[in-house]
Amino acid sequence: MAKKVDIKSEPNLADAAKRKREETRILTDDLEIPSELRIIASGKKFFIRTYGCQANVLDSQNIEGILLEIGYSPVDNPLQADVVILNTCAIRENAEEKVFGEIGSLKRLKGENKDALICICGCMVQQPHIVNTIKTKYPQVDIIFGTHNIHHLPSLLNEAYSKKNRIIEVYSKEGEVIENIPCFRRDKIKAFVNIMYGCDKFCTYCIVPYTRGKQRSREMDAILKECQDLVKQGYQEITLVGQNVNAYGKDLKDAPTFATLLSKVAETGIPRLRFTTSHPWDFTEEMFEAIAKYPNIMPFLHLPLQSGSNDVLRRMGRRYTAEEYCHLVDRLRAIVPSISLSTDIIVGFPNETEEDFQRTLDVVKYCHYDSAFTFIYSPRVGTPGAKMEDKVSMETKHERFSRLIATLEPDFEAKAEAYVGKIVPVLVEGSSKKDETILSGYTDTNKLVNFKGNVSSIGKIVNVKILESHTYSLIGEEVNE
Ligand code: 5AD
Ligand code: SF4
Repeated sequence: MAKKVDIKSEPNLADAAKRKREETRILTDDLEIPSELRIIASGKKFFIRTYGCQANVLDSQNIEGILLEIGYSPVDNPLQADVVILNTCAIRENAEEKVFGEIGSLKRLKGENKDALICICGCMVQQPHIVNTIKTKYPQVDIIFGTHNIHHLPSLLNEAYSKKNRIIEVYSKEGEVIENIPCFRRDKIKAFVNIMYGCDKFCTYCIVPYTRGKQRSREMDAILKECQDLVKQGYQEITLVGQNVNAYGKDLKDAPTFATLLSKVAETGIPRLRFTTSHPWDFTEEMFEAIAKYPNIMPFLHLPLQSGSNDVLRRMGRRYTAEEYCHLVDRLRAIVPSISLSTDIIVGFPNETEEDFQRTLDVVKYCHYDSAFTFIYSPRVGTPGAKMEDKVSMETKHERFSRLIATLEPDFEAKAEAYVGKIVPVLVEGSSKKDETILSGYTDTNKLVNFKGNVSSIGKIVNVKILESHTYSLIGEEVNE
């Protein structure tokens, strides 16, 4: 017999788009775990699959922290788990297709272990049409929860066990900042630290302001304490994470600016500090100064361009022109000449003309990027972009996409080639499974390096002489200089 569906709360895009001008509320209650759940969880295993960006990686660390605190233990194979969590991404359609494929293949798990629970969370299920599809077409899914109520996971699991219902609890409210959620980091070398949640920019192609809600900043003291703890634990790198880090603090009373926060985190002594993502629109002079002042703020910046056409940028709601963007890049390079630059570019925004696309290629040629993430525009239900007329064929979009890559790659190659013969600092992350003397890590400029070295270097910053370059990576050998 089909299980009953208990709908506690369903997502609503109109509610998700609302923004009240009120200060962010910070909740610091401790997590509540029902005692009967601890008994049920003992000996049971969990598996988490994370799709998408750093925000999801961080949420999964909280989910893992919660599950460990309840008493579950981790397992590497979803088919051996008693609780499977898919933390999903909604940024483009292909991300969503992968998740539906995985939900389909998890049907087997229910055949082998009928008490197993399949839970879907993350950005995808903040969208009403996705929740409806899962509700009607994927009966194997037991719990759907959203990005605002991860801390409810213990009570949702408890209820799924006791009532044997399917449960849907997704909020589209403005959201608070919830501190004190347990967090488990598998990576002991590099850590992401959330400085804010949500986004208020509403770029017209983007689903994030709907799936993650209003911009909410964490208080600086809480962020600093977390960073100090990471330094004490021996972490070598911290990346401060937010959809739009430059806007940090604008939703808090008397909050410091992002530049102040960045400086204070740099002063914790963390060997490497990065931040992502910066919006070109609110990049301040103070931020340039901080980047130039602290040697542990890495000479690397991810600065999404999206398009080089002023008309497309205006229709995307990006609030800067191509000229302003290029000026920003000039300023950055004047202040930190060694800075390495990466970007995001979308091809095929509705009615993008050949002329518009040429402007994107012009900016690409001007900026000489070190790396880039490139995407074909994917309409997202509920965003203004999805309602725009679009006469550009998919064939043209693919053809432009190939031309974009062909324009970017010579720069990637030239930038990589310039490393050959140089000795660069590399934070070593691991070794090859086949040969433990082949190590890999990243330069301060965020270039991937595979190199011959000593396995004892893992977790340290070592000098590597670069011998060879490829478009997307470097080859080298560890040196003792
Ligand atoms: N279609 C294609 N790319 C998108 N991005 C965001 N929304 C869309 C969309 N609807 C890209 C942007 C953003 C990156 C994270 O994903 O380039 O910077
Ligand atoms: Fe999306 Fe724009 Fe916000 Fe980035 S700044 S998350 S692209 S709406």
